[in-house]
Amino acid sequence: QLGYFTFDPGFMATGSCESSITYIDGDEGVLLHRGYKIADLAEQSDFLEVCYLLLNGELPNAGQKQEFDHAITYHTMVHEQMQFFLRGFRRDAHPMAVMCGLVGAMSAFYHDSTDIHDPQQRMIAAHRLIAKMPTLAAMAYKYSVGQPTVYPSNDLSYAQNFLRMLFAVPCETWKDNPVLSRAMDRILILHADHEQNASTSTVRLSGSSGANPFACIAAGIASLWGPAHGGANEAVLTMLQQIGHKNNIPEFVKRAKDKNDSFRLMGFGHRVYKNYDPRAKVMQDTCREVLGTLGIKDPLLDLAMELERIALEDEYFVDRKLYPNVDFYSGIILRAMGFPTSMFTVLFAVARTVGWISQWKEMIEDPAQKIGRPRQLYTGPVERPFVPLAKRG
Ligand code: SDX
Repeated sequence: QLGYFTFDPGFMATGSCESSITYIDGDEGVLLHRGYKIADLAEQSDFLEVCYLLLNGELPNAGQKQEFDHAITYHTMVHEQMQFFLRGFRRDAHPMAVMCGLVGAMSAFYHDSTDIHDPQQRMIAAHRLIAKMPTLAAMAYKYSVGQPTVYPSNDLSYAQNFLRMLFAVPCETWKDNPVLSRAMDRILILHADHEQNASTSTVRLSGSSGANPFACIAAGIASLWGPAHGGANEAVLTMLQQIGHKNNIPEFVKRAKDKNDSFRLMGFGHRVYKNYDPRAKVMQDTCREVLGTLGIKDPLLDLAMELERIALEDEYFVDRKLYPNVDFYSGIILRAMGFPTSMFTVLFAVARTVGWISQWKEMIEDPAQKIGRPRQLYTGPVERPFVPLAKRG
């Protein structure tokens, strides 16, 4: 059997669980979704096909794909009152803060699909969240730049819709660039699920108490925001801009190795991969393709590749098996596609929603499932008598 740990009834106490969705071999750099290689899925399927696979365990046939695509496409609009909720934020609020708020607020607007004990309501919630995340993300972006919301269009693919809602403006006719929408589709696939990472474990733990799916996904978004996790793609761009020129790379590599220096090579290293993250390879190829299509010569790409070359020849990184991860190249592509750095992690959240939902669904459908209750190793004082205030030194 691939990809599962020995099931422990107090699974949260050991921090592991049983799952059949994603398999990672960190030493070999292998990532499978329901047995399919990530590179094959990224190259040969589209994002909604991978969503169907993660949710249902099998790739859809033509009829199932048409039905699933329709179910998602025809749920992309959000309750108009969400606009009022959005306007409660400052224009300069970080879009991840806005997403935490908007997705959590969906519990109030779609309370009819929060009954997790009803299988039909569960699937309705899954469709609603996967369908509406791009719309909410685009609303957050448009609000931050002072442009009007662009509503979804039912005759576009998921990736095309997302790009149009983000970058179309009322005064111009938006035109799809097939290379960019294909690249977006591939980037969404690469971020869809990744076993029991921090944000997915957050969603599982929240969901194990019976909390509604919208609240659980809002918790996952909050966890993903951290720079050690999904926030790394934004931090990689900041790091590359800080390095500035390849002549400065040795100094920053030296700092990354210095335990007294908090500087880390962002986009490098991983809790599980002790080999090249297979997603980073596809991301690097996609990066070259997008920049080539757009005719962009981004010095940050050259800098990133030189940094990778130098780090992978340095014994500190080699000994610790620190390789580029999914975040190392993604920021460069997204910047070339017009995303501001503050939206990089939002894109990660849009893509990861299907992974969070699939893992949440797998957990609540397990009849043996119990509320998660991590235990601790107590290191505080042993029992001692109370000292009244008047007698304290
Ligand atoms: C994601 O879990 C997932 O699956 C996450 C994710 C997903 O899809 O959900 O894959 C997405 O979050 C990818 C990771 C993005 N984060 C970054 O790129 C931030 C930079 N990376 C580091 O913060 C770090 O690598 C972590 C947080 C990712 C992992 O940290 P760990 O668990 O401490 O790494 P480790 O145990 O393998 O570290 C071993 C050694 C340590 O040094 P020593 O104590 O042995 O001397 O390597 C060092 C670490 O200090 N190290 C680094 C480093 N990463 C680890 N040194 C310099 N630069 C780095 N980036």
